[in-house]
Amino acid sequence: MTQERQKQGKSVFIRTYGCQMNVYDSERMAGLLKPLGYEAAAKPEDADLVILNTCHIREKAAEKVYSELGRLKKIKTAKQKNGGDMAIAVAGCVAQAEGAEITARAPQVDMVVGPQAYHRLPEMLARTARERGDILETDFAVEEKFDRLAEHKADGPTAFLTVQEGCDKFCTFCVVPYTRGPEVSRPTDAIAAEARSLVVQGVKEITLLGQNVNAWRARPPVGVVGDAWGLGELCRHLAKIDGLERIRFTTSHPRDMDNGLIAAFAEEEKLMPYLHLPVQSGSDKILKAMNRGHTAAAYIDQIAKIRAARPDIAISGDFIVGFPGETAEDFEATLAIVEEINYASAYSFKYSRRPGTPGAAMPKQVAEAEKDERLARLQALLEAQRSDFNKAQMGRILPVLLEKPGRHVGQLIGRSPYLQSVHVEAPLSMLGSIAPVRIVGQTPNALAGERVTKGEAAA
Ligand code: 5AD
Ligand code: SF4
Repeated sequence: MTQERQKQGKSVFIRTYGCQMNVYDSERMAGLLKPLGYEAAAKPEDADLVILNTCHIREKAAEKVYSELGRLKKIKTAKQKNGGDMAIAVAGCVAQAEGAEITARAPQVDMVVGPQAYHRLPEMLARTARERGDILETDFAVEEKFDRLAEHKADGPTAFLTVQEGCDKFCTFCVVPYTRGPEVSRPTDAIAAEARSLVVQGVKEITLLGQNVNAWRARPPVGVVGDAWGLGELCRHLAKIDGLERIRFTTSHPRDMDNGLIAAFAEEEKLMPYLHLPVQSGSDKILKAMNRGHTAAAYIDQIAKIRAARPDIAISGDFIVGFPGETAEDFEATLAIVEEINYASAYSFKYSRRPGTPGAAMPKQVAEAEKDERLARLQALLEAQRSDFNKAQMGRILPVLLEKPGRHVGQLIGRSPYLQSVHVEAPLSMLGSIAPVRIVGQTPNALAGERVTKGEAAA
């Protein structure tokens, strides 16, 4: 196929599953395909290429991919009957974990591309067009991936920026070390360049992403001597970019929460008062079996230190119920740590047995009904805490970054410093600005706010 033919109007539909790193990767894949003439399609039926950017973290997530592939097969067959075609690519963590099994189970798939091989998509597309065979790219080569991806195009006032990938922690429940490979940090200057380019495009808030984002370590910028930097130093460095107003990062591991990063929360105004710091369980026995590398008490101490540095910080977490060997008493310890910490938001899951992980082979797997019951109790507690945290904002005036139009005309949706969604009446011209907003109400998923004048806000 010649360059000319490749450049004719084509369209791609990308469906993203799972975490924010996949959202970032999907945006970058779209950016990579654009110069080849691929515009975004609204639905798979309209697309010449469909990419499923998949998640393998829990069984349900992986199974969704196969049911979607079933649906896509019908669309592809119908198109082929009409003389057309549609290429199907499976990207992301299912691609990495299951590789060739995917094309064996789902022959309609043309390409399987792991998370570190997206930059090779254009050549893979050219090859499928030539060979009509299955193509598999699942090597780990993180640096090459970032070097070869096209410029990151901003889409609104907030953006994700991947700074770190992979994980060496090997929690015994988790597939990430196998699907995303070892911990790799991107170089400081490459991150700063991407951040500056996003800000030039109007971005006000950047969320630094990594499976273990606070394990990020790299040499200081070229020209600066000294030891390797940690995430706290990176945040301070990025905070110097004029026009960048807010910095966030996710997801952190308690083992990598160093003093430099905690101090940044106290001293760097642009670093938002919100921290997602998963603990998974409150039982030392289960934490040990999970290979988390810390005790419940160590986590509680750490949160106390973080709160001493930034008293208003909103803490968020992840929890797993029903890990193998979890007794009623262990579960009570999880409820106890939740009571102790008081979370502003949280994600909680039933343990899902993932093939190839040590947890899958452990004895004393917990019955599904037991997991259901524990999850319901835990979620009721977490939901009550979230609601209390939201209620505590009533009457306060918070700076809200207005991100996108709301459902009603004249309404915008923004985020508070604590990452709460806030609905507010404001003109479209205010999109992308940070406005003082008085919190006046609460719905299950958002806060309602009213714009206040700058004078009122200062009073
Ligand atoms: N089962 C249930 N939850 C899991 N997580 C990771 N692996 C599993 C699993 N096998 C959860 C953890 C992690 C989040 C991203 O997903 O809570 O922090
Ligand atoms: Fe998975 Fe644990 Fe690594 Fe997080 S730290 S990605 S839960 S192995």
